[in-house]
Amino acid sequence: MRSILVTGCNRGLGLGLIKSLIKHEKSPEYIFATCRNISAADELKNIAASNDKVRLIEIDLKNYDKYPEVVKQVGDVVKDEGLNVLFNSAGISPRSSFIGIKGLKASELMDTYAVNCVAPLMLSKAFIPLLKMASDKNKSSPLGVGRAAIINMSSILGSIKLNTDGSLYHYRVTKSGVNAATKSLSIDLKNDKIMATALHPGWVKTDMGGPKAPLEVEESCDKMVETLFNLTDTHNGAFIQYDGKSLPW
Ligand SMILES: NC(=O)c1ccc[n+]([C@@H]2O[C@H](COP(=O)([O-])OP(=O)(O)OC[C@H]3O[C@@H](n4cnc5c(N)ncnc54)[C@H](OP(=O)(O)O)[C@@H]3O)[C@@H](O)[C@H]2O)c1
Repeated sequence: MRSILVTGCNRGLGLGLIKSLIKHEKSPEYIFATCRNISAADELKNIAASNDKVRLIEIDLKNYDKYPEVVKQVGDVVKDEGLNVLFNSAGISPRSSFIGIKGLKASELMDTYAVNCVAPLMLSKAFIPLLKMASDKNKSSPLGVGRAAIINMSSILGSIKLNTDGSLYHYRVTKSGVNAATKSLSIDLKNDKIMATALHPGWVKTDMGGPKAPLEVEESCDKMVETLFNLTDTHNGAFIQYDGKSLPW
């Protein structure tokens, strides 16, 4: 993997992924980290200031019209080598997710859908030319991050089979949606040798995961990065968790 772009990197798992990618022995040459507001992303800015390979890109992922500008910023750096990995990490889970069907508001449901499902799918669409370029440049490599991959951060809460508790409508339906999108991408992009995988990070101590979560950001992110390097064609169109274990849809 020569290049990767991760979304939502000012805090939480996105920030953790950047740290894990930097310290990995096979650290990519180009690490693009997006966030909504660079001026307020102090920790990320410090990382970029001391690591030439980290480049910051500002984007609110609900601004779909700005995606071509993001692709251009990446393309200007990677040139005809393309982008190996698009990692859609940014996501939201409104507090009202916990209220159940009685508290469900259409506006909040649509907003969650915009960030958790529409954004990863539309950003994947925008990056297909650069991903295809990377895959074509690395024809001798097997399917995986050495060629081209889309990784969509999902959640075990998006698993329909494992839903025994109900509720959490905003979060569940949008993560099930991104799972469905990942599966279709894995089929549609198979001939271009671009793989697509849905990844659950575990239950992790972030603003979203809360303090009771059993996993630290570093452990989840180190394992996710290791799992990235171990992806093969068997993971195309698969739903897996941070340590590579398979999950039911
Ligand atoms: N933590 C867990 O236990 C857990 C479990 C399963 C799945 N996940 C998934 O893992 C991913 C990361 O979660 P996290 O725990 O790191 O959450 P987090 O700490 O709440 O961070 C969320 C990140 O997404 C960004 N984001 C939200 N809306 C955005 C938008 N419109 N445009 C650009 N960026 C936006 C946030 O940026 P701002 O600071 O600008 O809001 C922030 O960087 C999410 O997809 C989440 O669903 C987390």
